[in-house]
This record gives sequence, C-alpha cells and structure tokens, in this order.
Amino acid sequence: SRSVKLAVIRGDGIGPEVVAEAVKVLDAVVEGSELSIDKTEFSLGAARYLETGDVLTDTDLEAIAAHDAILLGAIGGVPGDPRLRDANIERGLLLKLRFSLDHYVNLRPTKVYPGVPSPLANAGDVDFVVVREGTEGPYVGNGGAIRVGTPAEVANEVSVNTAYGVERVVRHAFEIATQRRNKLTLVHKTNVLTFAGKLWQRIVNEVATEYPQVSVDYLHVDAATIFFVTDPARFDVIVTDNLFGDILTDLAGAISGGIGLAASANINPDGTFPSMFEPVHGSAPDIAGKQIADPTAAILSTALLLDHLGAPELAQRVVAAVDADIAARNGATRSTAQVGDAIAALITAAQ
Ligand code: NAD
Ligand code: IPM
Ligand code: MN
Repeated sequence: SRSVKLAVIRGDGIGPEVVAEAVKVLDAVVEGSELSIDKTEFSLGAARYLETGDVLTDTDLEAIAAHDAILLGAIGGVPGDPRLRDANIERGLLLKLRFSLDHYVNLRPTKVYPGVPSPLANAGDVDFVVVREGTEGPYVGNGGAIRVGTPAEVANEVSVNTAYGVERVVRHAFEIATQRRNKLTLVHKTNVLTFAGKLWQRIVNEVATEYPQVSVDYLHVDAATIFFVTDPARFDVIVTDNLFGDILTDLAGAISGGIGLAASANINPDGTFPSMFEPVHGSAPDIAGKQIADPTAAILSTALLLDHLGAPELAQRVVAAVDADIAARNGATRSTAQVGDAIAALITAAQ
C-alpha cells in the first residue's frame, strides 16, 4: 500500500460544502485499494483572514509544500466586501500557491455529458481541454498605479510572457494533444497584444515541427468565444495565456451544463512541488450554506488528482460513477450532500 499526503483547503462559501463531498468520494474510492490518503486540513481563506489577519503565512506555505498534493474548494468572500479590500485573498492565497508551487499547467477539461441539459440547443460531441498557462501573463502582479484616487490616476497591469514559460506550457499542451485527438488551437489576441502574441505564435510554430501528427490552428480570443457557443465540438486542446484561459473556462463550464461541473488541476509537471486540484468555480457567496451547490466539479477534481497520483484506474472509477450519476439526474433537485452520497454509493457498489 502507498500512502499519499494530501493537504486539504476547504476555504470559503461553498468551498467546505463541495470539499466534504469530494472527500467522501475520495474515501470511497481508495477504500480497499493500494492507495491510502493521509489528509491534513489547512484553514485558509477569507474567513481565516477576518479572524486572524493571516492570508497565507510562510509557515502555512512550507507545510503545504511538504505534501504530495492539494485539494482546494474555493476561497474568497463576497466580491467588493470592504473588509477584504486590503487583503486580496485571491492574490495572497490562491495565486501565491499557484506561483510558489510553479503550477504552470492549469488543466481545465470540458465535456458535455449525455443527459445534462446544456444551454446550447445542439452542443454536439463536446470534449476539449483548455491548457491555461498558470504562472505568467497579466496575473504576475507586475503593475502599479500613480496619483491614486485623483482624476489623474494611471493604473498599469503588465502581462509578463517569457520564452521559457510559454515554451514549457506549449510543449505540455502538444503532449496532451498526442494523447487525445491530435488537434491543438492556440488562442490569443495577436492582432492587438503583438509582443506577447508573436512570442506565443512563434513558440507554437517551432514546437509544432516536432509534432507533425498534431494539426495546429489559431483563433483570436474574441472569435474563440463565438465558436465556444456555436461549435464547441471543433476543439480538442486549447493552449492559451493565464487571463484568456480564466475567462474561456467559465464559458466552457457554462456550455457544459453549469460551472458546478467544471474541474481543474494546477499542475507542476516536474514534480518539484505538489500539484493542486480544485473546481473552476469560486466560493459562490450567493448560494453558500444552502446545500444547493453542485459538488460534481470538486468530485471530478479528485479524478484529476488520482490520475496525477498515478492511480488512473481509481480516477476512472470516479469518472464512471459521475457519468452514471449525471445520466440518472433527469433534472432532479438534490442537496449537495445527496449528490456526493449518490456518487460515493455508485463507487462502493461497483467495487
Ligand atoms: P463564483 O464561481 O463563485 O460564482 C459565479 C456564479 O456561479 C454564482 O451565481 C454561483 O452561485 C454559481 N456557482 C458557482 N459554483 C457553483 C456550484 N458548484 N454549483 C452551482 N452554482 C455555482 O464566482 P464569483 O461570484 O465571481 O466569485 C465569488 C468569490 O469566489 C470571489 O471572492 C472570487 O474571487 C472567488 N473565486 C475563487 C476561486 C477559487 O478559489 N478557485 C475561483 C473563482 C472565484
Ligand atoms: C479561477 C479563479 C482565479 C483565477 C481567481 C480567484 C484568482 O477565477 O481559478 O478561475 O482568476 O485564476
Ligand atoms: Mn476563474
């Protein structure tokens, strides 16, 4: 038997509600397997900040980094809450984890599951993955403002794109394409963001010569949003920068039948640091505490975790149970815990 050290960050809002179900499913699937999971809870997020003033201390970060992987629910308070204005939990906690742990591949798969009503009338056979760069772009915090609060204020946010950073994520995206349908789409805005755009396009062109079996195309991000709605089945692997990837993957969640279905993995492929698994969605303050959040995204994130831990057969059991549960949903209204119970029961019944 192999023991895995998992750091669990339940977070804020619906975070604890969906993580409870993810953990339930994880416990069910590892039961009787060669894998055992040793969990450590880290109380982090807006609630912790309001209580203690801490966002993510060096001690927290070091302790988390000593784990094999991280499961995260969601962090963040009500957008605009004045008590959180100075803290910036998102940057100080979530992005600090992604950056410090070098999560340069942010993997965000999308499928339209049979039986789930997509808002698209004819979604088609949708099965794609967005490979979102996770450590660069406009997210780096390379900005500043002057004359703040005056009519002459100037605020800059500089997007940082390095050849090193772009090449490593592009290579990873090509590798994924070879394990799928050998199709890769670069999404950017090369017509306007010309410096970063040239770098991304050049690197994609260069790496493409090493993958002759992969067909490569390009879309400007604005046009990509059209095709996400009119013809999402055309996509296989999309590689894109940090901000475009953020926006596109909320849209991807929506077309797949809801953001509560969208799972993600923040991966450090080198294995130097623990990778982190979390739903794409946030803390959803508007529905928090009501037991109505869909935990499927958090549960599917555990399948990505199991895959990453080298237990693809366990990951497959989670996916199969989710598939079966989704197919049987038929628009029924169930609580967050009922969805988790049903998926855990399907797993237990199948073993
Ligand atoms: P959100 O994703 O939390 O919510 C957007 C909408 O989707 C809301 O109407 C919400 O009710 C709905 N929704 C989200 N998850 C759902 C689920 N599992 N089931 C059913 N409906 C669901 O985005 P937001 O409102 O922009 O952000 C809220 C807070 O979360 C902010 O503080 C934001 O910064 C933070 N956030 C955190 C993460 C993260 O921790 N990874 C991700 C996104 C946003
Ligand atoms: C996400 C979130 C985060 C992001 C925020 C909360 C920093 O929206 O995981 O998609 O922009 O990456
Ligand atoms: Mn987002």
